[in-house]
Parts: sequence; structure tokens; C-alpha cells
Amino acid sequence: TFMLVLFCLPWGGYHSFSVTVPSSPVLVVRGATALLPCEFEPNSNALVITWQREEDARVVHSFYYERDQLERQSSDYFNRTKLNHEEFTKGNASLSIASFGLKDAGKYLCIVSNSKGSDRGVVHLVYTAFYSEPRLSILLKSTDVTVQYETEGYPRPEVMWLGSGGQNLTDHLEVSSASDGGLFYLKSSYIAQSPAFNVTFTLKNPAVHQKLQRHVNPNNQNVPMINIIC
Ligand SMILES: *[C@@H]1O[C@H](CO)[C@@H](O)[C@H](O)[C@H]1NC(C)=O
Ligand SMILES: *[C@@H]1O[C@H](CO)[C@@H](O)[C@H](O)[C@H]1NC(C)=O
Ligand SMILES: *[C@@H]1O[C@H](CO)[C@@H](O)[C@H](O)[C@H]1NC(C)=O
Ligand SMILES: *[C@@H]1O[C@H](CO)[C@@H](O)[C@H](O)[C@H]1NC(C)=O
Repeated sequence: TFMLVLFCLPWGGYHSFSVTVPSSPVLVVRGATALLPCEFEPNSNALVITWQREEDARVVHSFYYERDQLERQSSDYFNRTKLNHEEFTKGNASLSIASFGLKDAGKYLCIVSNSKGSDRGVVHLVYTAFYSEPRLSILLKSTDVTVQYETEGYPRPEVMWLGSGGQNLTDHLEVSSASDGGLFYLKSSYIAQSPAFNVTFTLKNPAVHQKLQRHVNPNNQNVPMINIIC
């Protein structure tokens, strides 16, 4: 008679456990609570979840022996992280980080182990900040008029000044490096040769699809004009 013997090789099992994270970067706005998605195949007990920074292995949050273990958490994340334990049975190891800032941008490792296996994934967080309402000032001199806007946001925006016919006007732009608060300070000005100017300031922050457009002409401004007497 004919007999078939099947060998069950263990390697298939070793590779079946996997962690799933988003493949594209996750945008997080300044001050918001970031959600770092991470999913795994749930299994009974012995669950170990570790979130850490990929760049320097700083511990962001860990969970084992059925509870959060925060003794070795980096002080940068003190009182800002949360793992939702009720989600573990669904295979959800997503972490939230409150008060997101520039220093939190980067790569995070989600490492999960249970009796089925162990795997890791990398979540890439990108920091952004909407530009604030631009502050207008107008400086009148005997020879020309300087129209200037100041605003703060992140990252560097695209700025343009347009004439009444939509033409690109030459301008002066200064962007300072990001402060500790995680914002670029931007100052942009246009010098008009005549007091009858009519210009449009435009700012784009493509990261957050923000577009600002402000028309300036001397007839519809509530802005105090500053006369500089030379
Ligand atoms: C932790 O954060 C909460 C609110 O986010 C705050 O009320 C509490 O005082 C903080 N605890 C410590 C020890 O800083
Ligand atoms: C995972 O849990 C977080 C809360 O911690 C929740 O916001 C998110 O929607 C959950 N993800 C899935 C796929 O259920
Ligand atoms: C100023 O320019 C805008 C277009 O940017 C145009 O619609 C408007 O009519 C102009 N106003 C004056 C007073 O020329
Ligand atoms: C407008 O002009 C500036 C230089 O004056 C240039 O850098 C910029 O690319 C121009 N933008 C467009 C849309 O033509």
C-alpha cells in the first residue's frame, strides 16, 4: 500500500505573526493628540507592547505583566501617552501622544509579542502647524510704501505677492529658523513705488493644504499707517 507522510515544518508558523502600521507618514498638527496606529493578531495572554523612538531607542510607552510599565519611559513623554487596554483583544496596540510638538516628529517603533510570535513596525510622524492670521503693517515713506505681513507656522511656506493683474511681484522674504515653540517666524514685505498700490499677499502651507490670500489697497484698510519722516 501507499503511505503519505506529511512533515509539519515550524517555519511557516514563525512568520505568520505580523504587526501592521501605516506605510505613509502620519501628519500631526501642533498641539494635537497624535494617534499612532499599530495592529497585530490577538491571542490570549503574555502580551508585550513596546513603543520606542527608532532614532535613539528612547522608551515612549510599554506594557507587560498585564499593565503599563512606565519606569523606563523617557521623561519627554511623561504623562502624555496612552494605550487603550480594551482594544488589545481586537489586536489594536495604537498609542496616543498628547500635546504634539516639533520634537515629537520622527519614527516610532511598535514592537508586539505574544504567544504567536513577535514583530515590529515603524510609524513615521510628521509635524505641521497652520500659519496664524497674518499681521499687516504699512510703512509710508516720502519715496515709497512698504507693505508687510508677519505670521508663524510650520514648515516653510510658499509666499508670493501678486499685482492687480495677477502678475508675480518681487518681494522681500525673511523666515527665521523654528523656535523652541516649533514655529517659523515669517516676515514678508513688498515695496510699492506709489501710494496707489493694489497687491495681494498669498501664503501656501502645502503640508496642511492651507492657503491664505489677503488683498491690500490703501482704500480698504483699517490698518494704521505709519509715517516715517526722513
Ligand atoms: C498629567 O496630565 C493631567 C492632564 O493632562 C494633569 O491634570 C496632571 O496634573 C498631570 N500629572 C502630572 C503628575 O503632571
Ligand atoms: C485602536 O484604538 C484607538 C484608541 O486607542 C482607536 O482610536 C482606533 O480607532 C482603534 N483602531 C481600530 C482599527 O479599531
Ligand atoms: C485690485 O486688484 C484686484 C485683483 O487682485 C482687483 O480685483 C481689484 O479690482 C483691484 N482694485 C483696484 C481699486 O484697482
Ligand atoms: C515669483 O517670483 C519669485 C522671484 O521673484 C520666484 O522665486 C517665484 O518662483 C515666482 N513664482 C511664480 C509662481 O512664478
